[in-house]
Amino acid sequence: MAQVSECVARDIGQYLEAHSGKGLLRFITCGSVDDGKSTLIGRLLYDSKMLHEDQLAALEADSKRVGTQGGELDFALLVDGLSAEREQGITIDVAYRFFSTGRRKFIVADTPGHEQYTRNMVTGASTADLAVLLVDARKGILTQTRRHSYLVGLVGIRQVVLAVNKLDLVEYSRETFERIEAQYREFAARIGIENVVCIPISALRGDNVLVPSGNTPWYHGPTLMGQLETVEIAGGAQDGAFRMPVQWVNRPNQDFRGFSGRIVGGTIRPGARVRVLPSARDTTVVRIVTADGDLEQAEAGQSVTLTLADEIDVSRGDVLVAADDPAAVADQFRATVVWMSDEHMLPGRPYLMKIGARTVGVTFTELHYRINVNTLEHVAAKTLDLNEIGVCNLGLDRPVAFDPYAKNRDMGGFIVIDRISNNTVGAGMIEFALRRADNIHWQAIDVDKGARAALKGQKSCILWFTGLSGSGKSTIANIVEKKLHAAGRHTYLLDGDNVRHGLNKDLGFTDFDRVENIRRVGEVARLMADAGLVTLVSFISPFRAERRMARGLAQEGEFLEVFVDTPLEVAEARDPKGLYRKARRGEIRNFTGIDSPYEPPESCEIRIDTTALSAEAAADHIIARLREAGLIG
Ligand code: ADX
Repeated sequence: MAQVSECVARDIGQYLEAHSGKGLLRFITCGSVDDGKSTLIGRLLYDSKMLHEDQLAALEADSKRVGTQGGELDFALLVDGLSAEREQGITIDVAYRFFSTGRRKFIVADTPGHEQYTRNMVTGASTADLAVLLVDARKGILTQTRRHSYLVGLVGIRQVVLAVNKLDLVEYSRETFERIEAQYREFAARIGIENVVCIPISALRGDNVLVPSGNTPWYHGPTLMGQLETVEIAGGAQDGAFRMPVQWVNRPNQDFRGFSGRIVGGTIRPGARVRVLPSARDTTVVRIVTADGDLEQAEAGQSVTLTLADEIDVSRGDVLVAADDPAAVADQFRATVVWMSDEHMLPGRPYLMKIGARTVGVTFTELHYRINVNTLEHVAAKTLDLNEIGVCNLGLDRPVAFDPYAKNRDMGGFIVIDRISNNTVGAGMIEFALRRADNIHWQAIDVDKGARAALKGQKSCILWFTGLSGSGKSTIANIVEKKLHAAGRHTYLLDGDNVRHGLNKDLGFTDFDRVENIRRVGEVARLMADAGLVTLVSFISPFRAERRMARGLAQEGEFLEVFVDTPLEVAEARDPKGLYRKARRGEIRNFTGIDSPYEPPESCEIRIDTTALSAEAAADHIIARLREAGLIG
């Protein structure tokens, strides 16, 4: 057999090389195995003669053995066999298969169809030109079809084929097909997908897959393969303005300094003026260097190294853009986010965002609404759960260069990463920058933290007490403050219960409210330290992520985390406010240690074991540590 199908990404370069000259269509198939997805992909590979002899022999043998198709080939076995192969490489969630016909070559991203695999679907879809949505003619349009369509639209795919499968099981009923078609067209129009082709097929029997079927004389549209071969491929990223995120600064010796990356928009030639973002310095491209020699021109999709005329500062994560059509730079955005984690999204929690080659800190500053994918309603929400889609505002800790996702998928698409587990927890698409920050500048103030602290004859610091309710945080913090005060220090003690009477009166004890509680008190502690005070903070602060955020707001060496380590049994036995008893009776919900988690510090500056030390001794120990750290004289 002359051509082969492969499901491993590493051969893609070779394969494409062999078939260069033909147009390439990237598409994604969505639907579940029950809808006949495996059978359809198997049939496309088989009918376009893309199978190895040995794969074919195995398929024949397996089909006979399993016998589900009465001696005929069972294509589902083929694809499931390939899936098993790929599952051994656990990291690949999306299988890419390559095949070609006389007219075109294809890359099909096959993503698992279950609802929890939204993440894989988004990954597979983000580079696709077209989506084949499979529905079972007996079931019609399901929630899953709507969800997939919505995601397909969201990631910017404008061409959809609705393959109404298993038509043989409804006696090739024209009425069934047309009913499903009408229902789907109505939904697609509402989500802005304009180019929809609906095809009645039977993947199993081959109706309208490669050749027009005699069983559907009333259907005059294209076959599935006909549509894949002729659909117009929208102008690629090479039509846009030049964009290249710098992945690597290549400096093998003093004489060469190049900037390597993949071009994600437009074309570039030596002599072109480019701008480095976010610093906004302009220069000229001198050479386009590749392993195979210099190029006269390079375009989107190619990985190159550029050398520049001027010695300007360019580092990894910066973006080189066309000087006459630059990307925008901002640190606040409106974006649509698809949540992909079992742990819900928490507005106010610090996450990481990877956009292009840059990773920055990000928080969801506001969740405007969640989208009900069935009704397309905007639903008020405080958080996003697994697979939910929401529209939110994001605040970054640094400005980044971007284009709206609708203009350039690479420049406007991002992923969200959990800072502690390092897992990808969301994917998003930038809609626009929020201009609210544009007119707010940092005001320089002459009297600074050092000056304020010096006048008080001290250094600023933050002593952050964390531990269970009833652990003894506030008792110990209170004694520490008294002792410091007696020694002439200027102090302030921020206590959870007290701050919740005023500034944080609007907050309860859900995860969401606790994140916001700590975010606010972290900011207040920063201001107190800026005022030159020895600041004591006594909050349960149960989550590592927010304690880390509070630490990040302070200056290096200025933040001491004090873990008041009292086991739950001991705190519960003490129960100074009677709250544990109430919580056990079910009168208080979300009580820390009972039905709300406490994450002990993995490392902290000071650990106090209250079962071994009295409160007085603990306070003395903390003061001694402050002295050792040079924070008090
Ligand atoms: S935190 O988790 O958001 O940091 P914070 O320190 O402000 O909590 O407030 C904890 C205090 O609120 C406890 O010491 C206790 O007196 C009171 N409280 C009332 N309900 C709860 C609850 N569900 N969980 C924990 N503490 C509660």
